[in-house]
Amino acid sequence: MPGKETFYITTPIYYPSDNLHIGHAYCSTAADTMARFKKQQGFDTYFLTGTDEHGQKIERKAMEKGVTPQAYVDEIVRGIKELWKLMDVDYDDFIRTSDERHVKAVQKIFRKLYEQGDIYKGTYEGWYCTPCESFFTELQLKDGCCPDCGRPVEKTNEEAYFFRLSKYQDWLIDYIQTHPDFIQPKSRQNEMLNNFLRPGLQDLCVSRTSIKWGVPVDFDSAHTVYVWLDALTNYITALGYTSDDPSLYEKYWPADIHLVGKEIVRFHTIIWPIILHALGLELPKQVFGHGWLVLSGVKMSKSLGNVVDPVVLCNRYGSDAIRYFLMREMPFGSDGQFSYEALLTRMNADLANDLGNLVSRTVAMVQKSFDGVVPAPLEYTDGDRALIALANQTPDLVSLHMDGLQFSTALQDIWKLVGECNRYIDQNTPWVLARSEEGRERLRTVLYILCECIRMVAVLIQPTMPRTPARIFEQLGVTDENLTQWPSLHFGAMPAGGKTQKGETLFPRIDIKKELADIVPDAPKAPPKPAEAKPAALKAEKPAEECISIDEFDRVKLRVARVLTAERVEGSDKLLKLTLRLGPNDPERTVASGIAKFYAPQDLVGRQVVLVANLKPAKLRGIRSEGMILCASDADDQRLTLVTVAGDMEDGAYIR
Ligand code: MSP
Repeated sequence: MPGKETFYITTPIYYPSDNLHIGHAYCSTAADTMARFKKQQGFDTYFLTGTDEHGQKIERKAMEKGVTPQAYVDEIVRGIKELWKLMDVDYDDFIRTSDERHVKAVQKIFRKLYEQGDIYKGTYEGWYCTPCESFFTELQLKDGCCPDCGRPVEKTNEEAYFFRLSKYQDWLIDYIQTHPDFIQPKSRQNEMLNNFLRPGLQDLCVSRTSIKWGVPVDFDSAHTVYVWLDALTNYITALGYTSDDPSLYEKYWPADIHLVGKEIVRFHTIIWPIILHALGLELPKQVFGHGWLVLSGVKMSKSLGNVVDPVVLCNRYGSDAIRYFLMREMPFGSDGQFSYEALLTRMNADLANDLGNLVSRTVAMVQKSFDGVVPAPLEYTDGDRALIALANQTPDLVSLHMDGLQFSTALQDIWKLVGECNRYIDQNTPWVLARSEEGRERLRTVLYILCECIRMVAVLIQPTMPRTPARIFEQLGVTDENLTQWPSLHFGAMPAGGKTQKGETLFPRIDIKKELADIVPDAPKAPPKPAEAKPAALKAEKPAEECISIDEFDRVKLRVARVLTAERVEGSDKLLKLTLRLGPNDPERTVASGIAKFYAPQDLVGRQVVLVANLKPAKLRGIRSEGMILCASDADDQRLTLVTVAGDMEDGAYIR
């Protein structure tokens, strides 16, 4: 008998240099949700996560604390594992790059690549910051100094091993072009091809003599393996590749999905595939680069001090609510704004009002009218049939969107059913039906339909919210395990007669104002909403000379443009050089824009921006800049974000 189809999903392995924040939890929650979904669908799933423990940063932090790097990471890893437990991130394996099984496998991989000539010894030339013990390339320097501490750097060189990336460049371009699903979303694929591969790959320095906390090269002990080469291989070393028992590797490799944040897509779609190909191994089926959770427009990060602690959130609101928010709030692939207001608003609207009320109202009505026993339906009306049809379509829609990693859309599908159930209650007014004998007959059908739809909703939310379904099944009196599984997702699978139980409110309503003021006074707030427009009579204070006429405004041609390429401008830490596409008949434009401090070039490629298209060209650092892209920035230019259009618009469209 053939075995089950397998599904192997991974998160990046996290740096244990600090406690993880809600942005990290975002990636793990997505991977866990996907793994649970596939398991629910009958796949033999394997979900891997772990920690990326080597390197100078950890070495230094441990030294500051006066402990060994191993003791330092052990403590943090304990906390990370506790966090995943708290968030119900139910991995199958947790790999640590300091695990002996990993270290041994990395050494074998390095040796094999060396012996076959893909790794060779050379000299690493670059800039060295002695206090930081760090090497930097010319481009990484900030105004000629160390980008970390700002102190002067020295030109230096050290003996190092190099990996022949350049040899595989053409093969990789061809592979990406012939495997359109390999890099997703598509914009990331264009970015990799245009920004990195087509301009040409340089061989990669893959060893250091100055870093001791790393995997030693076993045939040249002065060297340790470059952290990314060490880290990327975790996806196969965890499965036992090169070990005495490679059975997991044989079963699960190639991975179905590597989920990674957008800033590390480059490592996963250039260095990693080349390593695999050089080893003669298959490539993962897909690398999906998701967006960031941002706070007030800026990526959450410890160094910026704008992090939100997932432990605090889960302890306060429950992990299901946090998981739901993370998966529902932003389309996977795009950046999304975190704010306490948004979280609490969603908890009240979607969880307390929509789902919670639906369950409590329905169970209360069954209790009151039928002694708590789910009644058998009698005859279905057209209205009943419409709701039943929606209930039967929803699992297919959810599957479709989950398979495309569109978590938010899949949840919207489920909440459409929840919403229709609530509307059905309002239309059928069960409290009126309960008053007459005839009405009570009809009420049997209405309440059965509601109970059955709620059961189906509970099955569908399991991957995202692992805890809530059990509470719903208990309230509905569902005791048969089969009725909690995916194959039971057809209306009518649940027999009547279940004994309902009034339970605790699933999601208590929160007084948002009070919560924000009393409990999280220092909570980062969402950016203030623009002030509401005042009635004309009240806003006449503006001096007339500051106003422009509509004709004057019409002279400014604002157009939607798409970024084709983006690169840093040598010698400037502010400017990026962009090429932009407008309409099919417009020539491409070059624009120099002062946004380099806020955007990495690779984050811009493929995005739509707003261009002042008829601005007189100007020369900036030798670049003829043909227009200006619009950004919003705060008063002291500490924060800046690109202006764009809310939906996908054709390139070149005029903004009026
Ligand atoms: N150690 C590397 C990965 C090596 S994989 C072979 C690393 N670690 S990390 O801890 O810095 O980041 C791990 C993951 O968390 C990345 O995918 C990163 O994008 C993600 N996130 C970190 N901050 C995030 C947000 N604010 N929002 C969403 N994801 C974010 O990179």
